Amino acid sequence: ADALKIGIAGLGTVGASLARILLERREMLTTTCGRPIEIAAVCARDRSRDRGVDLSHAIWFEDAVALAEQAEIDVFVELMGGAGDPAHAAVTAALSRGIHVVTANKALLAAHGVELAMLAEERGCLLNYEAAVAGGIPVIKALRESLTGNTVSRVYGIMNGTCNYILTKMEKEGLSFAECLKEAQRLGYAEADPTFDIEGNDTAHKLSILTTLAFGNRISADDIYLEGISNISIEDIRAAADLGYRIKLLGVAQKTDTGIEQRVHPTMVPIESEIAQVDGVTNAVAIESDILGELLMVGPGAGGNATASAVLGDIADIAKSRPGAQKVPVLGRPAKSLEPYVRAQ
Ligand code: NDP
Ligand code: HSE
Repeated sequence: ADALKIGIAGLGTVGASLARILLERREMLTTTCGRPIEIAAVCARDRSRDRGVDLSHAIWFEDAVALAEQAEIDVFVELMGGAGDPAHAAVTAALSRGIHVVTANKALLAAHGVELAMLAEERGCLLNYEAAVAGGIPVIKALRESLTGNTVSRVYGIMNGTCNYILTKMEKEGLSFAECLKEAQRLGYAEADPTFDIEGNDTAHKLSILTTLAFGNRISADDIYLEGISNISIEDIRAAADLGYRIKLLGVAQKTDTGIEQRVHPTMVPIESEIAQVDGVTNAVAIESDILGELLMVGPGAGGNATASAVLGDIADIAKSRPGAQKVPVLGRPAKSLEPYVRAQ
């Protein structure tokens, strides 16, 4: 069978892990997907930087938009980050050509997700973004596919690995906030600008994506009540522990009588609760729905391999799909039918 040709824009923590896995597991993936997956084109800022993987067979593009516009590819994989250009322009260019897109970029989706979903649906292509929320946990698949027919009443959880890593390390090892953040950056968990992690914006981006999927409302990260963890001290963590609680940065979206409430803030959770046991870079997402009941998904929430695993799953879904086959709508329902967001009073 013909190879699925992909172009990867962004060869950092996630992009380089993805490229390495694709090359190392080429045979296994060919068997699983029924066709080889070939890295045909790549792009990053610095061509001279060693990516730890041989990409000499792929065409190098200086510019991500040029790659999206010109490369002979079936799938554009966006792993640069950022809500604006070049990510936005490049994803728009790829979808406009009818090329499938896979991205891990929650900032982009929080700002432009509905517009991009409409474009993908118009052009008959896929926009897959499993890695954008909770790293390797298949929460997008759960909401878009597995929970079809359910009415969701609440989605909440730990959605930022950097913050959970910092809070855990402060509590268990007594290290300072700054030391823990530095370590999270070294391990590739943090955003390029880590204020997005520690001030809660990254959790808000993810929550807004989940809200749209769960409740069918237009994405609106700006409407979310936001409080990060930068003011949490070791003393706060110890005082909470003395009272039988742990502090976790939670994102919560729930239906109320007056609208949908969305919030992100440090929360004292009872020490014996399941969510309190979630440590380190691990994330946990709970979904309450009427047919299934409560689903709690726990797993690696950040890092090169965990994130690349979700990106790879999205690419494999495209490799396995048949031309003209029924596609799952990008947001679980046609993007045009989404309702305006109604904030709880
Ligand atoms: P990195 O900062 O490690 O990598 C970003 C890559 O994009 C680098 O290769 C960089 O090039 C390239 N890049 C940046 N700007 C441009 C540009 N203007 N033109 C071309 N290339 C560019 O980020 P991550 O790999 O950590 O994250 C990538 C995406 O995945 C982001 O959207 C992030 O939010 C998301 N994500 C990350 C997770 C993680 O754990 N790291 C988890 C889930 C999602 P160069 O290397 O030359 O500087
Ligand atoms: N910076 C993010 C985090 C990456 O720490 O959770 C995963 O989305």
